[in-house]
Amino acid sequence: MARIPIIIDTDTAQDDCVTILLGLLDPAADLRAITMVAGNVGFDQQVANAHLTLNVAGRLGEVPVHVGCRQPVLREWSSAEDVHGDGSGGLAMDVTGVHNASEHAVDALLRLTAEAPGELNIIAIGPLTNLAVATVMDRTFPSRVKSLSIMGGSNNGRGNITPSAEFNFYVDPEAAQIVLDAGFPDVRIVPWDPVTLNDATFARPQYDRLCALGTPLARFFQRMCDATIDYDESVGVDGSTHPDSLTLAQLLHPELVLASAAYRVDVETTSPLTRGMSTMAWDKFGLAPNATVVEKVDAAAFYGILEAMLSRQTTPVRPISGMN
Ligand code: BDR
Ligand code: CA
Repeated sequence: MARIPIIIDTDTAQDDCVTILLGLLDPAADLRAITMVAGNVGFDQQVANAHLTLNVAGRLGEVPVHVGCRQPVLREWSSAEDVHGDGSGGLAMDVTGVHNASEHAVDALLRLTAEAPGELNIIAIGPLTNLAVATVMDRTFPSRVKSLSIMGGSNNGRGNITPSAEFNFYVDPEAAQIVLDAGFPDVRIVPWDPVTLNDATFARPQYDRLCALGTPLARFFQRMCDATIDYDESVGVDGSTHPDSLTLAQLLHPELVLASAAYRVDVETTSPLTRGMSTMAWDKFGLAPNATVVEKVDAAAFYGILEAMLSRQTTPVRPISGMN
């Protein structure tokens, strides 16, 4: 089976870490690079979390980690540390001799897609700043990307950081709109509401089963996700949320997608009240579509993919402090 070449653009905390694990361990994935963008938690903590994730998979140093934009294009950075803590459950490792790639994430996106035009699939699971800057720097960039899968927005539904806005689009709404207007050939969007809440949220009994698989990966998973499930339950979300790993999984395993449709997606950039809100216009409105929005996923099959991945035995390259 030919593996699918991917780049993961990430604000690494909690489910972003799970996504990197899937990119490293799913037999269908060929993870070529990790590009970092400002989002969930402090930037340097995110970078540390990415290396920690490579380490627990036994792949430390094997995939380049490119440091990207440290703030949104226009706005102050706003974090989700209240949701994720440090995003790694307090785990750490000795980082002596662990290096980031010397090339900036935006330059890496431009170079990698120039070296393999039409071949690479980008999984964007943080704010879209790096992709917007790459688009502004080189207007031929979008046409060189095979597909772009975005975790962002809600399908005319609830937000999670404000009543109307999902976090990734809220943090950098201008970047999101630049990317949605850029003409990427194959854009797929996994929204927060309804698909994440309905099909990628694992209630306690399911979550506990994943945590109890008895592997280093499962113990790591629990530490990543414990803070977030506590937060989610405190705000009425019934379980551990996995929008980012679903965004990768739907590319690797298209049979997961039970319903999707073409939409015209736009993001609010001017109203303070609804900043970052996504409008998703379906065919009735006669607008030219710019994305395929995932509407329904086989939740049991998605859970099975994460379960299979977390069941794998790996040997962390370096000891991880805080992990039993
Ligand atoms: C998104 O925000 C982040 O906290 C998650 O990693 C996900 O990408 C959900 O709104
Ligand atoms: Ca994310």
